[in-house]
Amino acid sequence: MDLLQHLRSEAETVNAHLDHLLPSCEGLARNVIEAMRYSTQAGGKRVRGAMVRAAAETFGTPKDDVLPTACGIEMIHTATLIHDDLPCIDDAGLRRGKPSCHQVFGEATALLAGDALLIAGLHAIATQASRFDPARVARAVVEVAELAGIGGVIAGEAVDIEAEGKPPESETLAFIHDKKTAALFRAAVRAGAILADVTDPDLATLTRYATALGQAFQVTDDILDVIGNPATMGKQTGGDAAKGKLTYTAVWGLDGARTRARELAHEARDAAGQLPANREFWFALVDFVVEREF
Ligand code: IPE
Ligand code: IPE
Ligand code: MG
Ligand code: MG
Ligand code: MG
Repeated sequence: MDLLQHLRSEAETVNAHLDHLLPSCEGLARNVIEAMRYSTQAGGKRVRGAMVRAAAETFGTPKDDVLPTACGIEMIHTATLIHDDLPCIDDAGLRRGKPSCHQVFGEATALLAGDALLIAGLHAIATQASRFDPARVARAVVEVAELAGIGGVIAGEAVDIEAEGKPPESETLAFIHDKKTAALFRAAVRAGAILADVTDPDLATLTRYATALGQAFQVTDDILDVIGNPATMGKQTGGDAAKGKLTYTAVWGLDGARTRARELAHEARDAAGQLPANREFWFALVDFVVEREF
C-alpha cells in the first residue's frame, strides 16, 4: 500500500470536515477563532485522524461515520502543539512550516486558542450524528478526556518540563514518552474502535499496537530533533539538547534510540498481525513512523 498517498487522501477528508466544524471568523471573538483555524489548518500529517478512521473500519464501521471523532482528535492534538510551543514550555517559533501560534497571535490568544480547541475536540466527539449508541459515544468521550488530560498528555507534558536539566532517568523518560505522545495514539484508536463496538480482546490488541507505535513515534521525534531537516519537518531542530530535555537520544544516544524504535516497531507489528482487518494499513503505518523524515 502507498501509505503516503493514503495519508494525503485521509488528510484531505479530515481537513474538509475540520473547516466545517471550526467556528467561522466573525464576531467579537474572531481573533481567537482565527488562531484556532490558523494552527489547525497550517498543515499536519493527520496520522491520528487516519488512525481513528482505520480503527472503526477494522471493526466493520464505515470510516466516514467516525469523521467527527477523527477531527476531534486532530483538534485536541493541535491544541497540545500550540501549548507545547509556548515560551513557558518549549519556546518554539515554527510549527507545521509556519510561525507558531503565539508568534502570530501573541501568547494570551495562543493559550486561549489551545483551550478552545481542546474543548471543541471533545465537543466534536460528543455531538456526532445519532448514528451511534449514546453509551458508546459517552465512553469514547470519557476515554479521550482521560487520555488527553491528566491520565495522558498533560501528565507527560508536566513531567517533561520538570525533567529538563535533571540527571537522566530512564523510568521518567518512559513515562514522558508514553503519556505525552502514546496516550493520544491510544485515544485515537480506542475512540474509533469503541464507536465500532469492538470486543474487549480486540480493543486490548489495538491498544497494545497504539502504545508501541506512539512510543516509537516519540523516539523517532527525539532522533529527528538531532538529525532532522527543519525545512522538511516544518519545525525547528536542536531545541531538545539546548533545553536539556530528557529525550531518548540524550539517555541512550542515536544508536540506542534507533534500536529502541526498531524494538517498538516489532511490538507494534506483532499486535497488527492479530487484528481482523486493515492489516496492510497498520503494518505500513509502523514502517512510516520509524522511517519518517517529517
Ligand atoms: C508532533 O506530532 C508532536 C509529537 C508527538 C512529536 P506530529 O509529528 O504528528 O505533528 P503533525 O500533526 O504532523 O504536525
Ligand atoms: C510533544 O513532544 C508532544 C506533545 C504532547 C505536544 P515534543 O515537544 O518533542 O514535540 P515537538 O518536537 O515540539 O513537535
Ligand atoms: Mg515538548
Ligand atoms: Mg515541543
Ligand atoms: Mg520533539
